[in-house]
Amino acid sequence: MTARRAAASGVRVIAIDGPAASGKGTLAQRLAAHYGYARLDSGRLYRAAARRLIAAGGTGEDAQAAVRAAQAVTAEELADPELGTDQVAQMASRIAAYPEVRAALLDFQRRFASRPPGGAPGAVIDGRDIGTVVCPGAAVKLFVTASLETRAERRLKELREKGLDSIKTRVLQDMRERDARDRSRSEAPLTRAEDAHLLDTTGMDADEAFAAARAVIDGMCT
Ligand code: CDP
Repeated sequence: MTARRAAASGVRVIAIDGPAASGKGTLAQRLAAHYGYARLDSGRLYRAAARRLIAAGGTGEDAQAAVRAAQAVTAEELADPELGTDQVAQMASRIAAYPEVRAALLDFQRRFASRPPGGAPGAVIDGRDIGTVVCPGAAVKLFVTASLETRAERRLKELREKGLDSIKTRVLQDMRERDARDRSRSEAPLTRAEDAHLLDTTGMDADEAFAAARAVIDGMCT
């Protein structure tokens, strides 16, 4: 019955977690389009809070300032292209370690999961703690990984496509730091839920990762 678990509301949730640039974002987008589900990139909530904090001159050391930034985040700002920089990502990872910041962003994610926008019958949510903390009852849980080298290459390509001048060694270092912080924090660390399917996308392109995820999901529902 595990495969058929659904949120109390009847909405089917696909939870996708994994480290930075593991391919979970592209995968989440494609799965949402395929199944007609709404998609939430939970990382953008943390990034939006980080961006607000940076704009206010915050350094990330003051938990209360970070909480205020998180409380002020609105759905509208999640599409802001400025959220894509590594500076914002680093700050996001720093403030994501504060339990109060996580608590401030939890309601938004749970509301999205139980009542996806547009009346969609399901939600695809990606992040670090979706299968473990935000939606532990999700119908499907995927834990997406790839080697550090692969992830750094992907992030580099992504940043360059956005016109952001980036150096590989710097991207690697940033990613290492962020992953270590995300994995070691005491509150909702990045970890694979016991019932999550592991999907290692090293050596896979986006189409192959999509096909592998669909095979898992569709296999669970037959
Ligand atoms: O795009 P990328 O995978 O590099 O990062 P992201 O998903 O946008 O997340 C940015 C940062 O937000 C992460 O490094 C985490 O510290 C934090 N985050 C989190 O703590 N919990 C989530 N559910 C999503 C993101």
